[in-house]
Amino acid sequence: MACCGGNKEQTGEVIVILIAPPGGGKGTQAKLLVERFGFQHFATGDMLREEIGKSSKIGLQIKEIVARGELVSDDLVGGLVKDRLAKSNGCGVVLDGFPRTWAQAEYLQAILSRQIVCAVRIVVKEEDLLRRITGRRFCSECGNIYNMYFSPPRNSGECDKCGAPLRRRRDDYPSVVEERLHIYAEQTRPVVEFYRTSGRYFEVNGNQQPDQVASDIHGIVEALGK
Ligand code: AP5
Repeated sequence: MACCGGNKEQTGEVIVILIAPPGGGKGTQAKLLVERFGFQHFATGDMLREEIGKSSKIGLQIKEIVARGELVSDDLVGGLVKDRLAKSNGCGVVLDGFPRTWAQAEYLQAILSRQIVCAVRIVVKEEDLLRRITGRRFCSECGNIYNMYFSPPRNSGECDKCGAPLRRRRDDYPSVVEERLHIYAEQTRPVVEFYRTSGRYFEVNGNQQPDQVASDIHGIVEALGK
């Protein structure tokens, strides 16, 4: 199924929800879905970091919450997602980091109309997550993601694609990661049940090479158009 390749008047827009713990590979796989299908990528973590970057009053409040590894309010994040969805180009969307609570899942269901919603859970062994997160670096210019253990850049500290410096997220230090994993287990894992019982729900093995994980996810998305 190519971007807008199907008759979206008949099928409706596809929305792929990626569910995985911190470091589970949502951002990596979302980028590959964009490359393969031309989907738009809406990542709530990125939206919140954009707000933080503006240093507005709300941005400063968000900064403290994210730095502690806690969740920002459902209302605030729901509003950001609703705005983006309203402006989507109809060629498909990948949601990365939303919904993350039962209330967010209910909210999303309420604001969608004819879209085909598909939830894909990327299952990753817990012992791998810490190295994935603490080893993560991202390009300050193009956003390309690296991992110092699993997929390091050719030149340490520099992006292979554009040469810009690599950065580390403030919430990727071990003390915060523990809280993020705890919150995932408590508040986000129930979202799996929401989708398992209410529609198109799939699981893929996230303990494979990224391109193999991508191939599994792309197969699921392609089958949606049939
Ligand atoms: P967010 O930015 O969404 O962070 P997260 O969900 O904790 O997820 P990550 O970005 O850490 O991991 P990822 O799954 O994208 O993995 P990645 O592909 O980068 O949220 C940050 C904060 O914002 C939250 O803590 C919260 O405060 C707030 N927030 C966001 N959304 C919210 C919401 N809806 N409600 C309330 N608050 C919200 O991969 C990780 C590493 O692993 C990389 O180094 C990568 O190279 C490597 N890797 C990826 N795949 C593989 C593989 N198959 N094999 C080996 N290594 C791999």
